[in-house]
Amino acid sequence: MISYSEKTHIFNLETEKNLYYIEIYKGKHIRHLYWGTKIETLQNDFDNIEQDKPFVVNISPKNTVFLETLPLEIGFTGKGDFRHPTVDIENITGIPFLTLGYKSHKITKGKPVVEQFPQGRYKKGDKVETLLITLQDENSEVEIDLIYSVYYDYNIITRSIKVKNLSQSNLTLNTLLSFNIDMPLNHNDENLQLITLEGNWARERHIQQQEIKNGKSVISSNRGSSSHIFNPFCAVTYPSTTEHTGEIWGFSLIYSGNYQMCVEKTHTDIVRISGGINPETFIWILEPQESFTTPEAVLVYSNSGVNGMSNTFHKFFRERLIPQQFANRERPILINNWESTYFDFDHDKIVNIAKKASEVGIELFVLDDGWFGARDGDKKGLGNWVVNREKLRKGLEGLAEEINSHYMEFGLWVEPEMANPDADILKQHPDWLLGSCSDDPSMGRNQYVLDLANPEVVDWLIETFTEIFRKANITYVKWDMNRYLTETYSKYLPAHKKRETSHRYVLGLYRLMDTLVTQFPHILFEGCSGGGGRFDPGLIYYMPQYWTSDNTDAMARLKIQYGTSLVYPIITMGSHVSACPNHQLERTTPIEARLNAAMSGNLGFELDLNLTDPEELKIVKNGINFYKKHRKLIQLGEFYRLLSPFKGDQTSWMFIDSSKTELLLFWFLDKADIKYTRQLLKLPYVDPNSSYIDKETNKTYSGSELINRGFRLPLMNKDYASGVIYLTKI
Ligand code: DGJ
Repeated sequence: MISYSEKTHIFNLETEKNLYYIEIYKGKHIRHLYWGTKIETLQNDFDNIEQDKPFVVNISPKNTVFLETLPLEIGFTGKGDFRHPTVDIENITGIPFLTLGYKSHKITKGKPVVEQFPQGRYKKGDKVETLLITLQDENSEVEIDLIYSVYYDYNIITRSIKVKNLSQSNLTLNTLLSFNIDMPLNHNDENLQLITLEGNWARERHIQQQEIKNGKSVISSNRGSSSHIFNPFCAVTYPSTTEHTGEIWGFSLIYSGNYQMCVEKTHTDIVRISGGINPETFIWILEPQESFTTPEAVLVYSNSGVNGMSNTFHKFFRERLIPQQFANRERPILINNWESTYFDFDHDKIVNIAKKASEVGIELFVLDDGWFGARDGDKKGLGNWVVNREKLRKGLEGLAEEINSHYMEFGLWVEPEMANPDADILKQHPDWLLGSCSDDPSMGRNQYVLDLANPEVVDWLIETFTEIFRKANITYVKWDMNRYLTETYSKYLPAHKKRETSHRYVLGLYRLMDTLVTQFPHILFEGCSGGGGRFDPGLIYYMPQYWTSDNTDAMARLKIQYGTSLVYPIITMGSHVSACPNHQLERTTPIEARLNAAMSGNLGFELDLNLTDPEELKIVKNGINFYKKHRKLIQLGEFYRLLSPFKGDQTSWMFIDSSKTELLLFWFLDKADIKYTRQLLKLPYVDPNSSYIDKETNKTYSGSELINRGFRLPLMNKDYASGVIYLTKI
């Protein structure tokens, strides 16, 4: 898996399908050589990359290395590498740069664990090895470990960096990213492309593809959470790469706070990709003998197109990132009362919604915002985590019991990180607020953010929510977070450490989640942040599913789910059927389209079925039965995107099991057009040597026909038409 040649000084990081080669160059620099499909031998003929030209700087008079043109695995300022730095560290003398050189390396089985911090999991028996390359600064007692873990079977390499302060004085970490890779890619006359996931509230993770031009393209968050605006993911690819063919390099960061991903194309045509904690909002004081480990980045190479990259991420995230007890567990169909009641509910109204839901086969009821304190709107109540008896006369226990008596599980909404100004806890501890250093801290949705950089606040939250989760028979929790962070300075921290607040907030959040998730392993936690505002790998490490978006319009959802699926497995996406006209877009779409869109994830409902038209209710009931039959395939099968809503009015995707015995094909139309009537859609992933049958109609199709000629879609001559077909091998 990982080998090192004393002769060539080359490390070979090998996964089942790919290779990643790096080298100790001239005894000192960690040079990137190759990352891609397996090759037999590597001609180490890269010396000509170094160019001794005017204005290129030698690292020292004795050492003719031109850092700027060398493909490196870590970049640092001050010694002639003028590109985006991976580290920027100052020592007591105020000298703002390091001169890093190779000191030693170690290859071990398995993987080191960073406590209470999200990371790719290692299970005993996994084919995983770790390479740790230690670099030493020439002028100070600073050591840096480049950490690579290779998941052989998953075709995944994870990377992180650890800084050790071995000196007697403080170090200031100004920049410390998680990875850097300089790819001397062969363009073959193609202009490389950058794929990112951009968005906004109710429009999350839309695919953006652009040409990589000379200079830097940066995506980042400085909002305290990974945010709706960009996801901590990017990919580099060729224009000729399709969903199903061609090369792509994907990067995802297991982190929920301020991050940065930078893609830089230099004047020598090397593409440098780096990512980690956003240096804009980060300065860390590293005291003597302390160390700091960055979040982990997940690196994926695929030569089977964008979908190939997605499948690699999906498998790894489902099997080695989310909590293990949920990796293979089918998710319940739920109903949530948010859009049907907002804050206006009481015990009887809730039971009434739940009873009807149970009749059609829904398995879990989720009580959303408004069950505590004086929470009749969003101005009051947050932080007063005491049940509102005026609304819930039997308390949470009584409500849960009654819901359980209707054969449904009970779930609860919480927003632990926030407080409204009327929160008792803020009266007792006015300094527990983020921004309490300023006279007039900003508000978002009428609420303040608690200072999770303060361990006392985290302890209080652990105590409060442990009690609540114990109180009633709660098997699901929706964990919301409804504003971005501002004035991110913790009163708890001394002046010289105030700039550590953003990262310490995230560390506090992870300790809080880690403790609760460990204490309540039977609870299915769903992350949420005004919909999909913190849908990132750091969060799903603790919460195996996420509320994908507040936008429940079926057509808007297609783009959101399609984009999300670039990185995140289907089983992590909560997707609900809501009432029409839709509350976000006021659009009316047929119930079939709403069901088909929501069934393409973890199915849920967000409406009062007592108010649903009887004909539609029959369709809902059938849809639920259909979903139950095929839930395993949807949630645990492989997912393939076939028609992109970003390219036209049609969307299609399919689910198929790994042995290709059964498949579900979904299609959707936005605006009808005569050109969309009865099209042929190729299904490249079926078994070419088998035949498939649609048992509803007894129609059969040969695999080779489906692959080469395609499946004839039914007539779609209406806006928002949609359909699904289930085929099994004969
Ligand atoms: C935002 C969430 O995304 C919604 O689903 C709902 O839970 C509200 N918050 C409640 O305040």
